[in-house]
Amino acid sequence: MLLSGTVIADSETVLDDGAVVTADNEIIFLGARTEALDRYPGHEHREFDILAPGMVGAHIHSVQSLGRGLADDEELLDWLFDHVLPMEASMDAEAMEVAALLGYLECIESGVTTVVDHLSVNHAETAFEAAGTVGIRGRLGKVLMDKESPEGLLEKTVAGLQESERLIEQYHGAFEDRIRYAVTPRFAVTCSEECLRGARELADEYKGVRLHTHASENRGECATVREETGRENIEWLHEVGLTGPDVLLAHCVWTTEHERDLLAETDTNVVHCPSANMKLASGVAPIEAYRERGITVGLGNDGPPCNNTLDPFTEMRQASLLAKVDTLDSTALPASAIFEMATRNGAQMAGFETVGMLHEGWKADIIGISTATSRATPIYDPLSHLVFSAHGDDVEFTMIDGHIRYDGSHTTVDADTIRN
Ligand code: GUN
Ligand code: FE
Repeated sequence: MLLSGTVIADSETVLDDGAVVTADNEIIFLGARTEALDRYPGHEHREFDILAPGMVGAHIHSVQSLGRGLADDEELLDWLFDHVLPMEASMDAEAMEVAALLGYLECIESGVTTVVDHLSVNHAETAFEAAGTVGIRGRLGKVLMDKESPEGLLEKTVAGLQESERLIEQYHGAFEDRIRYAVTPRFAVTCSEECLRGARELADEYKGVRLHTHASENRGECATVREETGRENIEWLHEVGLTGPDVLLAHCVWTTEHERDLLAETDTNVVHCPSANMKLASGVAPIEAYRERGITVGLGNDGPPCNNTLDPFTEMRQASLLAKVDTLDSTALPASAIFEMATRNGAQMAGFETVGMLHEGWKADIIGISTATSRATPIYDPLSHLVFSAHGDDVEFTMIDGHIRYDGSHTTVDADTIRN
């Protein structure tokens, strides 16, 4: 397929009258529109205002899609223990499947092509199947919770790890390798030392399996971990093996200088969730301090109940505005850096090496965006348009792994990809 328009190939490369040509699941050409038309005359041709790499939601909870607007004005631990965990505990397999499908379809329609998804304790296979059905790319994991957890979610340590291993065997590399596994202890408050260490051991047994958890989101959470372990949260995670280039830590709002150094020294990945951090009054994550240390930072919408949208454009805008009010420096987190967080950085930490930029030989994960509704034409700076003016509703076309998954107002589910 030949796609033409203003092509944002990566944060530094914008082609005004450009084109991307795809074959199978790859990009085989990136360059001028005229050259593409000459070289690929027989290809189906589609025009868009802007073409960009698919966005990466580096920390989401698709299973919380049914809880949108739940307990809107509560802080993290009350919101979690009084509302979200009981909701997850009450969900049967069917509810879990509906929630995952809703979440993934919302992602695809608003331009997200890759997710790192924190599932729940039960019925995780329904989300893996849903991801296969809709064709999204993702790093998914069943959640581990073996202490301080409500009935229905609390699991025996060994049973949770065994079920994770079964899911790794079944789904790591499934659906033409679009789906990979992340061992997912929920957070240090609900996971014993044995569980956290076991998660690391399990991830190390399988090539390419990663680790995904929440860390230092809220002061009450950090205080609980400090009381129980005598360590700061990230020091504790480091001690039990949950730092490293294969680890994604969501939030990291409350960190000491020593913890920031630890994150940098171990190459641990941080996922910034600005909307959730504002909505749950958790705080402002020190993103500039992480970036100064060379820590890879991605962007995540977190769960619908702590954000109310899976739209990556909203998240990019929130990241920018929050950095501006926090630093009072309009250049502290430029549009290009935020775009990288939402694309390349997220893909890299999710372990999809050739995703997140539109380059020849890379995966055909591409979105087409209309500028008609945003009254932003003529566009002088397409990249800052994406970060500051665009919305998920402007997405007209989503291609994942060479398959069209959303076209106009139409989500396309390819029957061939179901359970292959
Ligand atoms: N920490 C542990 N579980 C959760 C969750 O579901 N959402 C958020 N935002 N933080 C968490
Ligand atoms: Fe989360």
